Amino acid sequence: MAIKLPLLSILLLFLSSPLFPAASAGRCNSDDKKALLAIKAAFNNAYHFASWVPSAACCDWYDVDCDPSTGRVTGLSIFQDANITGTIPAAIADLPYLTNLLLHHLPGLTGPIPSALSRLHRIQLFRISFTSISGPVPSWLSTLPSLSIIDLSFNSLSGSIPPSLSLLPGLLALHLDRNHLSGSIPDSFGSFPKSSPPPDLYLSHNNLSGPIPASLGGPTWGIVDLSRNHLTGDASFLLGSNKPITQLDLSRNRLSFDLSKVSFPVNLTSLDLNHNGITGSIPAQINQVTGLVLFNVSYNRLCGEIPAGLVTARFSQYEYFHNKCLCGTPLAACK
Ligand SMILES: *[C@@H]1O[C@H](CO)[C@@H](O)[C@H](O)[C@H]1NC(C)=O
Ligand SMILES: *[C@@H]1O[C@H](CO)[C@@H](O)[C@H](O)[C@H]1NC(C)=O
Ligand SMILES: *[C@@H]1O[C@H](CO)[C@@H](O)[C@H](O)[C@H]1NC(C)=O
Ligand SMILES: *[C@@H]1O[C@H](CO)[C@@H](O)[C@H](O)[C@H]1NC(C)=O
Repeated sequence: MAIKLPLLSILLLFLSSPLFPAASAGRCNSDDKKALLAIKAAFNNAYHFASWVPSAACCDWYDVDCDPSTGRVTGLSIFQDANITGTIPAAIADLPYLTNLLLHHLPGLTGPIPSALSRLHRIQLFRISFTSISGPVPSWLSTLPSLSIIDLSFNSLSGSIPPSLSLLPGLLALHLDRNHLSGSIPDSFGSFPKSSPPPDLYLSHNNLSGPIPASLGGPTWGIVDLSRNHLTGDASFLLGSNKPITQLDLSRNRLSFDLSKVSFPVNLTSLDLNHNGITGSIPAQINQVTGLVLFNVSYNRLCGEIPAGLVTARFSQYEYFHNKCLCGTPLAACK
């Protein structure tokens, strides 16, 4: 396979070369080319952009994707390069057909997200992750109607979460985890448009505080990760046997509610509640959740006997330990 590859790449290069203007990959819109060269200049012509030369068609440039029928730039994916430094170039906003923007693993990328990017009204994937960008999560993201994935994880963003993000009609995933966000989870997150399933919600490793809004018990989430914040109070409304949620991580918060009254979603595969102030006992219904492969209730204030069964037997003492008076296999026998 490895031996055959050079031949194939030569053929592809040949087909996409400017000698064959009919080949779609070789096309390049001149406005898009101008914008890309401005992006390259904004990044001080970093070595990463060595293939971005005016003599080559911009659809052939490294990190650039085009619509084969129009030759317009639809994707820009710049990733994994510590040599790229500076702020996010506003010239990205001059790529009006951009649907996918990915700036990933660029530790030298700093400053806020420029408001010029609010002009990217065709954007579907907006991923700026593992960078050093700071400033707020822009509220204008809610005005980009085609957004389906927002990933701003592993940055240094601060401020509160814009409530208006819940207006996005087709959002499938919202990753704001691993930042320095503060304030509470917006109440409005209980009312994403009914036309789409609500997004998978990743808000972990921030400085979010206050109670989880009870409105979040309304939507039918897939994955919710609120771990490692300072959230308080009840979270039982996220559970319930009739909910489709498959993964829920609430670990390392300050939640306190009675687990005895909860029924677990039947399709749950992962439930992490460790390091909270959860009281009550583990309901026997847990043994009907046959797909549960991760379960951790350690470091809470649970009591009573662990209900014996096929599901509870999967987990070791380390998923049950450090509770108030939880007992029975795999912990010590109840008195
Ligand atoms: C980053 O710069 C150094 C020094 O100029 C160079 O050796 C290295 O290959 C560059 N890395 C990338 C990913 O371009
Ligand atoms: C987290 O938020 C609290 C207020 O809710 C504030 O006092 C504290 O300084 C914040 N910590 C960080 C690291 O931002
Ligand atoms: C659980 O998963 C099954 C199979 O995918 C699905 O038919 C069912 O509706 C799900 N149950 C809930 C409560 O979402
Ligand atoms: C459950 O959580 C505790 C506390 O963080 C941790 O020590 C333990 O390793 C966890 N169990 C698993 C399987 O991750």
